[in-house]
Amino acid sequence: MNSYEKLLVDNKAWAAEMVSDNADYFKRLAKLQTPEFLWIGCSDSRVPADRITGTQPGEIFVHRNIANLVIHTDVNLLSVLDFAVNHLHVKHVIVCGHYGCGGIKAAITNNDYKFVLNMWLRNIKDVYRLHRDELDAITDEEKRCDRLTELNVKEQVMRLAMTSIIQRAWKQEQRPDLHGWVYGLKDGIINPVFEMKAGTHIDPIYEYENL
Ligand code: CO
Repeated sequence: MNSYEKLLVDNKAWAAEMVSDNADYFKRLAKLQTPEFLWIGCSDSRVPADRITGTQPGEIFVHRNIANLVIHTDVNLLSVLDFAVNHLHVKHVIVCGHYGCGGIKAAITNNDYKFVLNMWLRNIKDVYRLHRDELDAITDEEKRCDRLTELNVKEQVMRLAMTSIIQRAWKQEQRPDLHGWVYGLKDGIINPVFEMKAGTHIDPIYEYENL
């Protein structure tokens, strides 16, 4: 059997198990999607949003990309954010990075990863530049990466707050709260590192009027 065929076989076994536990499982899920959370995480295969939070299908709306970046020209991310905030009415948006992130590690090297990856990773280099003094002072490379991972998550949460999507929802409905978390690959524990409650004032240059 090919490796991908095993996925299909295991899928059938999983679906049967779900139905044996609860005959209406899929009927109920098909009708209803009311997640309270939007998760913006890293694409890393070791950080599955639902598994590590013990949530079930239907509970978390998910967007993932390399190193969990919020980029204001990323139509994919913005569409997910718009839909989650304005149609699903999520109460919380979580940006979750993870220690040991390959994207973060790659960004602090001077390697040429060629066109597209260079372009993506440059956003992480920008975060490094904003916090250069603090990061340069950390001599241990792993610790420096870990700290950059935390600062990156914080920066991405702040970028969410810079969008009119979030600012309008804050003004009109006092939601969602924004959270920056970092997951530990070594111990499975999520470390909350930053939070912006709905309505938090941000640097005025990013604040929109007449929302
Ligand atoms: Co990663």
